[in-house]
Amino acid sequence: SSKSILKVLSKEVQIDSTYFNIPKNILEKIPCQLHRKENHPVNLISKKIQCSLTDYVHLNDINPVVTKKENFDDLLFPYDHPGKSRSDTYYFSESHLLRTHTSAHQLKLLQQFDKFTLTADVYRKDQIDKTHYPIFHQMEGIKTFHKDMLMALKYCNDAFSEEQIMTQECHSVDEVKKVVTDLKSQLTAIIRNLYGDVETRWINTYFPFTQPSFELEIKFRGEWLEVLGCGVIRQEILNNAGKGHMIGWAFGIGLERLAMSLFDVPDIRLFWSKDPRFMTQFERNGLKTKYQPFSSFPAITRDISFFSPNSFPIPENDLMDVVRNHGSDLVESVYKFDEFHHEKINRKSFGYRIVYQSMER
Ligand code: PHE
Repeated sequence: SSKSILKVLSKEVQIDSTYFNIPKNILEKIPCQLHRKENHPVNLISKKIQCSLTDYVHLNDINPVVTKKENFDDLLFPYDHPGKSRSDTYYFSESHLLRTHTSAHQLKLLQQFDKFTLTADVYRKDQIDKTHYPIFHQMEGIKTFHKDMLMALKYCNDAFSEEQIMTQECHSVDEVKKVVTDLKSQLTAIIRNLYGDVETRWINTYFPFTQPSFELEIKFRGEWLEVLGCGVIRQEILNNAGKGHMIGWAFGIGLERLAMSLFDVPDIRLFWSKDPRFMTQFERNGLKTKYQPFSSFPAITRDISFFSPNSFPIPENDLMDVVRNHGSDLVESVYKFDEFHHEKINRKSFGYRIVYQSMER
């Protein structure tokens, strides 16, 4: 097999052409880093969640190339797990791949931090439709406790159903209930902080790296929507990270899922749109954005700047009126993008952007 080197962001990766299966359009998107782009809906949500998690270390800049070991084996995936196949995962070589989840960094980060989040791009070979895209974004969150400090924690029995809670052998039911109570209340707070009063439910599930494991679903437009996976970290992982004296929980949230429901974005592909009419809506309205679909015909913009007479500041609504009257329905939007105070002449200047766009031509 022929070997060559590919540079992915700042990392040099060896390619094995007999194993490599990453299409050009995926490689080209790696530098986009939507989660770090100011005002991008994925960034807005990531920041909002970070606000619910004070005194956590927040990371968002870790290279997406990881080893197969980091992505699967370190997380105790069984040897023959289907997720490892070349039809599910993008490989550079037999040993290196594009992370399929942010959990790929758990082991390394646990060695450095007790409480942290990581927001990052993740990659899965998948169909492309309104809700699936081969690149999306997750936020991983982890909190660890010194086992002897757990004494001080209480647990809430309401958080548990009648059925027996699936603990790991090395944990007592009491310990696990405390950690799970903390986990569930933290995650409920995060979701309430984003959605206000939304209906939620916990589903028991399985992940190789947590036990017990849960999914959180929210009621959205009459349907249950899964938004995150979580659970009590497998003690073997903590032991391997040199943290055998600690116990902890982890969660992984899909950020596009949240963004689509929160902002009414009807198609996941829009997050990659280069049309300014997508991003400007979020630049203007932030977390309050309710996405307005735009015409499929191209828009043009014209910028206008002017000094406002000091004695007679122009009310913005008057300006809007003038633009509307002259531009008719071709004007899709008008907004201020800059303001400048000239010290010497003590006058203000303004920059406005007019977006023209027809619905039919
Ligand atoms: N990594 C899991 C996923 O991508 C989510 C998860 C993270 C589950 C942390 C449990 C704990 O589906």
